[in-house]
Amino acid sequence: MNLDIDFIRSQYPVFANPDTARWAMFENAGGSYVPRQVIDRLHEFFQFTKVQPYGPFEASIKAGEAMEAGYRAMAGLLNCDPDELTLGPSTTMNFYVLAQAIRPLLEPGDEIIVTNQDHEANIGCWRRLAEFGAVIREWQIDPQTGELAIEDLKSLVGKRTRLVCFTLCSNIVGTMHDFNAICDIAHDAGALAIGDGVSFAPHRVLDVNKSGLDLYLFSTYKTFGTHLGVMWGKPSVLDTLEPQGHYFNRDLPHYKFNPAGPLHAQIGALAGIEEYIDTLYDHHFDDAAPGFHAQAARVFDLFSEHETVQANRVLAAIRAIPGARIIGQDPAVEGSRAATIAFTLDGMRCSDVVKRLVEKHIAVRNGHFYALRCIEALGIQDTDEGIIRISLVHYNTEEEVSRLVKGLESL
Ligand SMILES: Cc1ncc(COP(=O)(O)O)c(C=O)c1O
Repeated sequence: MNLDIDFIRSQYPVFANPDTARWAMFENAGGSYVPRQVIDRLHEFFQFTKVQPYGPFEASIKAGEAMEAGYRAMAGLLNCDPDELTLGPSTTMNFYVLAQAIRPLLEPGDEIIVTNQDHEANIGCWRRLAEFGAVIREWQIDPQTGELAIEDLKSLVGKRTRLVCFTLCSNIVGTMHDFNAICDIAHDAGALAIGDGVSFAPHRVLDVNKSGLDLYLFSTYKTFGTHLGVMWGKPSVLDTLEPQGHYFNRDLPHYKFNPAGPLHAQIGALAGIEEYIDTLYDHHFDDAAPGFHAQAARVFDLFSEHETVQANRVLAAIRAIPGARIIGQDPAVEGSRAATIAFTLDGMRCSDVVKRLVEKHIAVRNGHFYALRCIEALGIQDTDEGIIRISLVHYNTEEEVSRLVKGLESL
């Protein structure tokens, strides 16, 4: 079964407009395009139900219903109960709040493991707990490959380890980690496993209950939805954390760890992601799957196959450039590398490479992408120049990748 990219692209208004469609979008790890199912719901919310939700009158009831559908859609995707979710303005904010919620559980001298591969969202908030006596241990990447070795984690955990904070997939290196193994190591040490899925969720569907994780966070604006961060927590773990909302909302799901309050319209549009995936499922499969999570998993398997083929074309083109340094797995093996590809070229500034590609209407960027520690550990001197990042998702076509390959060859 092949992915029908024409059908997929017909769901996105951005590809129907000649001005926007001429851009080959390869900066998806920064934020993905949005299908009409999400846009329509957002539009409808603003047009007809843009009032305080959960009140007694019609518009307010409908606004509340739209939001509940949004929570249900995200719960369906992760295969959990909607009450286990907090939908905040971003993953960075959710991590920050989570760190505050965990802080009272820690004694001075308790240890937190963070990586130097992660986006700063899953590092800085934990490092700040050192002010309260926590000891930070850094799980470090190999400076050449950018990879984290599981053996290194084993030697870092100890009796005082309370948290192991890591990314399921780096937004620079692109490797998908063996999160079951990482969670087992954390649990054997009596620690919580906290996973950043922002660069993972656009490519794979996670069943949170099978993942081994205690807490999982990702961002819907990189996963074909509105601008939000989703935080899931295992109920037995959430129960032990210090609520961060108003005191009278201490027991209220969705509000308990959301001091910002929910973003009504953004949440109200999230059911559009479910509708989009359902539409793709119905188009590609004849038989029924048991529920939305199972359908999404099958659809994302198709995404993954397509993305890996295209990622390998991009990797081959970069590899052929003299002086190219590719960060992370090359060639890509399906299931263990996202199509998020970072590289540098000897003797050419990253910003010049980007400029040359952008002139050809190929949308890419360079920089450290808030994974500054990773870029520094890779030995990259000019961290503002950083790396060039090419990130694909399922709606990128073979033809777009051919244009990109030509662009790379012209360097
Ligand atoms: C891997 C990773 N984690 C966390 C974040 C932060 O997400 P947000 O922008 O929702 O705060 C990003 C954003 O780029 C990311 O790529």
